[in-house]
Amino acid sequence: MFQSAAIALLCLSSRVLAQGGNSSSSSCEPRIQHLADPPYQNYFYSDCHVDAQAVVTSPLPDSNLTIIGPRFIVAWPAGNSGVCTFFQPQNGQNGSLAIELVNSTVGDPLGPVYRKSASSKNPFVGVEGVLAFNDSAELSLAILGSIRNIRDFTEGPILLSPIVQRGIKVTKFNGTGAQVSRLWLDNVTTTTFTMVPWRNTDNRIRINNSTLNFGSGLYHFSASFDYPQLTQLTPNQILSNKSQALITQDPGQVSSLSFFSYSEKLLADGWRFLTYFGRDSMIAALLLQPVLSSGSGSAMEAVIGAALERVNRTDGSVCHEETIGDYATFLNLQHNITSTAAGFAYPMIDTDYYLPVLMSRYFHASPDRIQPLLATKAGSIDVQNKNLSWGDLSYTTAQKIMNLTEAFEKDQTVANLVHLKESEVVGQWRDSTYGLANGRIPFDVNTALVPAALYAISELAAMPGVYPNNPDAKNWASQASKRAKLWEDNTLHFFQYNVTVDNATSLVKDYTSKNAFYHGPTHADSIANYSSDGMVIDYGLSINSTETPDVIPITHTDTGFRHFLLNSTDDKELTTFINASANAILRPFPAGLTTAVGAVVANPVFSGNNVLIANFTNSAYHGTVVWSWQLALMAKGFEIQLDRCPGSNSTSSARSNSAVPAFCNDTGVYTALRGAYNRLWDVIEDNEGQLQSEVWSWTYSGAKNETGGEYKLSPLGVLPPPPGVGGGTESDIRQLWSLVFLAIERNKKYH
Ligand SMILES: *[C@@H]1O[C@H](CO)[C@@H](O)[C@H](O)[C@H]1NC(C)=O
Ligand SMILES: *[C@@H]1O[C@H](CO)[C@@H](O)[C@H](O)[C@H]1NC(C)=O
Ligand SMILES: *[C@@H]1O[C@H](CO)[C@@H](O)[C@H](O)[C@H]1NC(C)=O
Ligand SMILES: *[C@@H]1O[C@H](CO)[C@@H](O)[C@H](O)[C@H]1NC(C)=O
Ligand SMILES: *[C@@H]1O[C@H](CO)[C@@H](O)[C@H](O)[C@H]1NC(C)=O
Ligand SMILES: *[C@@H]1O[C@H](CO)[C@@H](O)[C@H](O)[C@H]1NC(C)=O
Ligand SMILES: *[C@@H]1O[C@H](CO)[C@@H](O)[C@H](O)[C@H]1NC(C)=O
Ligand SMILES: *[C@@H]1O[C@H](CO)[C@@H](O)[C@H](O)[C@H]1NC(C)=O
Ligand SMILES: *[C@@H]1O[C@H](CO)[C@@H](O)[C@H](O)[C@H]1NC(C)=O
Ligand SMILES: *[C@@H]1O[C@H](CO)[C@@H](O)[C@H](O)[C@H]1NC(C)=O
Ligand SMILES: *[C@@H]1O[C@H](CO)[C@@H](O)[C@H](O)[C@H]1NC(C)=O
Ligand SMILES: *[C@@H]1O[C@H](CO)[C@@H](O)[C@H](O)[C@H]1NC(C)=O
Repeated sequence: MFQSAAIALLCLSSRVLAQGGNSSSSSCEPRIQHLADPPYQNYFYSDCHVDAQAVVTSPLPDSNLTIIGPRFIVAWPAGNSGVCTFFQPQNGQNGSLAIELVNSTVGDPLGPVYRKSASSKNPFVGVEGVLAFNDSAELSLAILGSIRNIRDFTEGPILLSPIVQRGIKVTKFNGTGAQVSRLWLDNVTTTTFTMVPWRNTDNRIRINNSTLNFGSGLYHFSASFDYPQLTQLTPNQILSNKSQALITQDPGQVSSLSFFSYSEKLLADGWRFLTYFGRDSMIAALLLQPVLSSGSGSAMEAVIGAALERVNRTDGSVCHEETIGDYATFLNLQHNITSTAAGFAYPMIDTDYYLPVLMSRYFHASPDRIQPLLATKAGSIDVQNKNLSWGDLSYTTAQKIMNLTEAFEKDQTVANLVHLKESEVVGQWRDSTYGLANGRIPFDVNTALVPAALYAISELAAMPGVYPNNPDAKNWASQASKRAKLWEDNTLHFFQYNVTVDNATSLVKDYTSKNAFYHGPTHADSIANYSSDGMVIDYGLSINSTETPDVIPITHTDTGFRHFLLNSTDDKELTTFINASANAILRPFPAGLTTAVGAVVANPVFSGNNVLIANFTNSAYHGTVVWSWQLALMAKGFEIQLDRCPGSNSTSSARSNSAVPAFCNDTGVYTALRGAYNRLWDVIEDNEGQLQSEVWSWTYSGAKNETGGEYKLSPLGVLPPPPGVGGGTESDIRQLWSLVFLAIERNKKYH
């Protein structure tokens, strides 16, 4: 997903609150939310029949009119479907037409459409309301069907698909209005968009060769379709019993989480990715687990079930992204297949490993759920998985992981680490072209996800009823834990690189003097302060390849995965690693990661490599920019490591018999860890308004060598992109994994 930050203003209907506390939800009380993000206005509407997000775009005086025009979108999670309509001023010049959704007797501003039809198996559901146009306008283009077809148009490079557009029918409607509709490629579902002059005007809509022309004023619109709907989880159903208070404490965030949560799956974000994404939902579930509901019909089971249902039965891969609804039929047709069956994509290498970790954490807390969850019959979404159970699929994934990690146990070489797939340039969360600096062997997967997944498989193998009762699987209880330890203790060193303090100092001076977006202090003094024996020890983002196994010397936040997922017992390595990752946070940017707007996810300063420096800027999606959930992962990871030290009063008693890690008694390292934890929380608190957006960037004021300049927040999308990267990607107002601060708080005892 390629998105940029959104600065949002929250206006929440009191009706969201009215819903809280009423778990039986037999009523059809709507839940609505309005999030302003000019030039976009986002409206969320859910009731017992439909879930919809409407996005109204109206150009601002300073909008780039090449990108921003009057547009109205309605997006539905069911089938990842939607309607997108583009408007133009009839007479005035570009930029003169403004549109807006206004409150009316049919909605404030959205109301429900629910209409049973004799000719259709499913009722027509959707939303209606009143759109205001400040000038005479034309509806010049409508795309009806799949959000993927809409994105193909709004994001290119494919423009309009003739086979989709051909199906559009424009007719007169209700006397003075017009209707735009399209029968899907399934020959069953119809999406309909209508516009009718609203109230006392003498307006009428003229149809001119499929274009609608109309005067300024108010128009009643409705957008609906007859497709099976998902079942949204209400706030009470998503949160555990002990976390119900969040519904009143943080209604906006809980309302967003509810909009993304369905009994069948959690969605990645809205409006562009209102559908299943394996990594997003599993990372969110791992971080949100302390507040999520468990048991039948819960949020935790929606996430685990969605991943299991979509596993590739042949090779055990966990699905990254699904293709559903009209776009599934469309893709099948491109392969000359007449079928509405959903499609599932498996390009990533990290996604497999999250699944056993999440399952083991969940079953550890809810052992009574092993049997019911794993006995569930697969195939309701992924028809290829018919006649298998979710348990069968989880076993295949575990086998895949066991197969893939075996070679390294025998021979610990770079070649035996986990690499990106041959045909892919991405494979883990940094999924933009330069996210891993072209490295094929990522840090997070090898040093954290693989060992954590192996420990999890060992734990799952020891839980009765998870894996089949055969000698191979039984053996995993010991075999996988032994192998996990081997991966845990023998991978980090491959990624380590050292820079002398002198070299690091000259690198940061050089970086700053050539930098086009940062002119502030070098903070070179922090290099000596946060180093050991004249050396900066650091861990690279990735290893280039087996043939050229160079570490790519980019400092990063993926160290947080290891702190969050593993409690290493190799004291020497752990002490060095904790010190290095804490120091990277304690060194201010550009010497380290931390800026006034948060810790950046990557910093190429020590590479001294102009190509890497040019690709990892403050406008690169995975460059010197700040990601909300990475801050959460890092902060939680540091806290987990602090909790291992005596005197931390952790509620966990399991540790009393395990040895105290050496770093706890190394004053310098412990102080660095605690200092980094607090430094991170200070910037998190300073940027509270940003935390629900996905990623944000910054600019730096102040001329070259001038002191006293400062960081200013900037949406990523407004900065000119790095060379060779397309820009102007529209942001999504809310992302699932940016809601994880609901479960992660500063631990005051380390303050
Ligand atoms: C407006 O956007 C277009 C398309 O991305 C871009 O080529 C152009 O430079 C932008 N104009 C300004 C003034 O930023
Ligand atoms: C429209 O109605 C909503 C919900 O009642 C309210 O929050 C909002 O302020 C109203 N908008 C205007 C412009 O009156
Ligand atoms: C259709 O027209 C009738 C009367 O002319 C009006 O009462 C009704 O609200 C209109 N329906 C829609 C959907 O605009
Ligand atoms: C829909 O109908 C058309 C025309 O009859 C036919 O060619 C096509 O195969 C049908 N599509 C599906 C998915 O049944
Ligand atoms: C109607 O519009 C289509 C495509 O926009 C165009 O190809 C066609 O020539 C137009 N027909 C008339 C009669 O203007
Ligand atoms: C599932 O895995 C098999 C074996 O790797 C592969 O051939 C097949 O294409 C995969 N299925 C999908 C839908 O990618
Ligand atoms: C589908 O059929 C068309 C026409 O027979 C052919 O040209 C095309 O290569 C086929 N596509 C695939 C993916 O098989
Ligand atoms: C794992 O390896 C075994 C033995 O080579 C093979 O039979 C099995 O199909 C593999 N399973 C997966 C899911 O890779
Ligand atoms: C980095 O320095 C440490 C401490 O001197 C040393 O143990 C380690 O082997 C060095 N790592 C590399 C990759 O040279
Ligand atoms: C430091 O820089 C010098 C000169 O560029 C280089 O030869 C040396 O290898 C560097 N040492 C380290 C540890 O980076
Ligand atoms: C990285 O590996 C690629 C091949 O995957 C190779 O072409 C390139 O030269 C390597 N880069 C470095 C810095 O070693
Ligand atoms: C690591 O230790 C902390 C503190 O005791 C504990 O909360 C956490 O669950 C442990 N994590 C793992 C993966 O064992």
